[in-house]
Amino acid sequence: MELMELLKTRRTYRRFDQSRPVPEEVLKEILEAARFASSAANKQPLTYVVVQDPKKVEKVFGYTRWAAYLPAEQGQPKEGEHPTLFIGVVENLDRNQNCDTDAGLAISNMTLAAWNRGVGSCMIGACNKAALSEMFGLTEKQVLHTVVAFGYPTHESHIVDIEDPADPDAVKYSLDGDRNYVVPKRKLADVVKYL
Ligand SMILES: Cc1cc2nc3c(=O)[nH]c(=O)nc-3n(C[C@H](O)[C@H](O)[C@H](O)COP(=O)(O)O)c2cc1C
Repeated sequence: MELMELLKTRRTYRRFDQSRPVPEEVLKEILEAARFASSAANKQPLTYVVVQDPKKVEKVFGYTRWAAYLPAEQGQPKEGEHPTLFIGVVENLDRNQNCDTDAGLAISNMTLAAWNRGVGSCMIGACNKAALSEMFGLTEKQVLHTVVAFGYPTHESHIVDIEDPADPDAVKYSLDGDRNYVVPKRKLADVVKYL
């Protein structure tokens, strides 16, 4: 896919074909993309926990919350719509205490590499990190940054311009009549200042 098109269509996806696992070669590309990401002082403090066994995926899914702007019956993936793969992004504090930007870059690389192969994703900050850290066997020097869900999406997601930047509710995504996501983004003129 052409880069700008890839960036525009790599949205957050929240309903997947649960019967279609992510193939090993795509998983490998996703992980390689994370490895290629820039890293402060090149310390590379992040490691990744791959969960693809269906029973374990379901257990992780139980610790995640989806689409806070929507009622649960609309935003929470239903049976048959769950992701088929989770990747936990782990900060190893003995390598670097400040991993946030590294994590953002790695997650961006992973989700783009996935989308380049038709695999959609949702970054999940709203998860039970204590329970997941225990499940993942993390040590006291390891902090779970986030989990990222992957799968083949069964819906579309489109960007629309925010017309009234002063309206605090204007950032809220919604579903259209076909249950596709509509994601409002602030216009360039509202976020860029030329000196
Ligand atoms: C740091 C971060 C945490 C997020 N956590 C969640 C989450 O817990 N659950 C969820 O459904 N979406 C989550 N998202 C996805 C955002 O809701 C989504 O990025 C936003 O609505 C814009 O949609 P877009 O990714 O298609 O541009 C998160 C995104 C980011 C960047």
